Amino acid sequence: MTSTPLLSIQNLCVSLETAQGQVEALRGLSFDMQSGEKMGLIGESGCGKSLTALAIMGLLPMRSKVTGSIKLNGTELIGMRDENMCRIRGARMGMIFQEPMTALNPVQTIWQQIAEPLQLHQGMSKSATQLRALELLERVQLSRAKERLMAYPHQLSGGQRQRVMIAMALACQPDILIADEPTTALDVTVQKEVLNLISQLVSEDGMGLLLISHDLGLMRDQVDRVMVMYGGSVVESAPTQNLFQHRRHPYTQGLFAARPQLGLKRGTRLTTIPGQVPDLLNWPTACAFADRCAHVEGACRDALPPLSQASISSDFTNSNHSDTSHWVRCVKWQSIESQT
Ligand SMILES: Nc1ncnc2c1ncn2[C@@H]1O[C@H](COP(=O)(O)OP(=O)(O)OP(=O)(O)O)[C@@H](O)[C@H]1O
Ligand SMILES: [Mg+2]
Repeated sequence: MTSTPLLSIQNLCVSLETAQGQVEALRGLSFDMQSGEKMGLIGESGCGKSLTALAIMGLLPMRSKVTGSIKLNGTELIGMRDENMCRIRGARMGMIFQEPMTALNPVQTIWQQIAEPLQLHQGMSKSATQLRALELLERVQLSRAKERLMAYPHQLSGGQRQRVMIAMALACQPDILIADEPTTALDVTVQKEVLNLISQLVSEDGMGLLLISHDLGLMRDQVDRVMVMYGGSVVESAPTQNLFQHRRHPYTQGLFAARPQLGLKRGTRLTTIPGQVPDLLNWPTACAFADRCAHVEGACRDALPPLSQASISSDFTNSNHSDTSHWVRCVKWQSIESQT
């Protein structure tokens, strides 16, 4: 018997209103996340990662058109009334944004900001929120937590502000945490610390995690499964270890080749993926990567390739993680694999 996934997204399509009319930004996104599962979403700028997060949170821009299904513990979120969505968003889903300064309110103290969801969703008294806020700040290992309850965001460093954001996201003990590039604004030494903290808290509470990043290296240690996104849909999805061993989609192969690596000889030029992520208005109707792909052929431009299930390497089938499937959205993945 299969249990209901914590989050189940089926054929999610989102079109946005622009000056040029409606444009399709997410094209048939589907994935399931189980309780306690840590999933990563990766891809170049503009491929739809943040829109995916916003769609789940019900925070898409006004007048967006959404079709498909987003179910949280079996409850459909698409089409839900605003007040119900607001309740679910605050209490069962937490989100950490890329730039904490823009997400925090500059004229409210840290305590006021953590207290708000606790009062709204859990009916806590003001005095009780102070204790709980302190507990949360200590849990995210913010130094001098007690005195910082009364501080304003500008009095904290970027890393400290990000810890406050994590505390706010965890305040109501959500079932799922979405972290959209949570460490991009931080320096490298703090990045790892904050990611490890998120990962540890998620494991302790058994939450589901959707970690969005463009940093493959950071993703590797933090998530069970990586989904590679391009042109508004997932082009490859595999258990992390398996993806690092066998990249099937030419786009994923390009992303891996383009990552900076330790030990490269001085003066070595990094490989880049030729071309750019196409503008929403000019997305190819079939495979979105076709114009940049070295393996392109006629069929790639005919229709959006289906997600095919690739075989699982024998060295990975012993993994503890239940879902070992590897999916790839490319009509040529088998012939490309035999060439590489
Ligand atoms: N409010 C909006 N109106 C019009 N287009 C939008 C809007 N928000 C996003 N887009 C477009 O949708 C596409 C996907 O945007 P999204 O923010 O999801 O990208 P992303 O993958 O998160 O990129 P990044 O890595 O830069 O954060 C982009 O082409 C972007 O320009
Ligand atoms: Mg983004």
